[in-house]
Amino acid sequence: MSAAYPALRLRRTRASEWSRRLHAETTLAPADLIWPLFVSEGQGVEEPIASLSGVSRWSVDGIVARGREAQALGIPCLALFPNTPPGLRSEDGAEALNPDNLMCQAIRALKDAVPDIGVLTDVALDPYTSHGHDGLVDAAGYVINDGTAARLVEQALNQARAGADIIAPSDMMDGRIGMIRAALEAEGAHNVQIMSYAAKYASGFYGPFRDAVGSRGLLKGDKKTYQMDPANAEEALREVALDLAEGADTVMVKPGLPYLDIICRVKDRFQVPVFAYQVSGEYAMIEASVAVGAGDRDALVLETLMAFKRAGCSGVLTYHAAHAARLLNG
Ligand code: PBG
Repeated sequence: MSAAYPALRLRRTRASEWSRRLHAETTLAPADLIWPLFVSEGQGVEEPIASLSGVSRWSVDGIVARGREAQALGIPCLALFPNTPPGLRSEDGAEALNPDNLMCQAIRALKDAVPDIGVLTDVALDPYTSHGHDGLVDAAGYVINDGTAARLVEQALNQARAGADIIAPSDMMDGRIGMIRAALEAEGAHNVQIMSYAAKYASGFYGPFRDAVGSRGLLKGDKKTYQMDPANAEEALREVALDLAEGADTVMVKPGLPYLDIICRVKDRFQVPVFAYQVSGEYAMIEASVAVGAGDRDALVLETLMAFKRAGCSGVLTYHAAHAARLLNG
């Protein structure tokens, strides 16, 4: 550093609002946001989710209304997750392959009503299985890799045929990105993107999501044999390298804030578009803080989202997307 105090005073550029804006190294805009939405059965249905206060499941018509809202707010993309009716859940999650399941209904309705909004779809079996795991389970309760991956390929094709723009496998099976890419290419679905949940950790922050898709009570055991150990960072880089080599267009780190170091390292190492999922437990922490008067929602939302951008993210999946976009649009 050439100058020192008092010639150099770093507070000078912070002294006024216009100057702070001028010197901001990072920007946050509605275009950085992906809005996750939960789909439920019926018509005109809104089901609030107790552990995710302020977030509801919507029937397909409500999802379309959220799509129009997103468009008006400048949010470019929605992420869909189904709450499959209990009677349609099974050992093998076959409902995931039904071309008329809730996901496909929602995808088609959105692409019909708001074709300019991107639709990202989750590939994993947990919203469809009677045991709440992301894949097929053997007699010992182990989630089998290759058999699951083959099903996930079918699930991804089912979503792509319904009109999904971004296929987002969140299951953490080995090899599935390459298999899904090959299947999409074979179908001529050349422009269907894959956003891999490349570094997804076995996290305590997913609880409210499992309520939202109805899998919390069903889940037997944990997901530690397929999701990553929070102790590991080198392994996240290996996961990302593999998924990119297999044809992922973009990669995701999940959860978000506790893993900013991973986001930063992935961006530094690979120079590819990196996304973060500010997951349900992170949303719930902010809302809990607001509820007890410990924090200000608007400030917490904008600060945490900016942190993801600063760490190197191209965008963030967040349940606060619509709220943040409203704030950003002034
Ligand atoms: C499951 C899936 C999970 C989330 C997205 N996809 C939960 C899990 O792995 O158990 C969590 C998202 C959130 O907590 O907001 N395939």
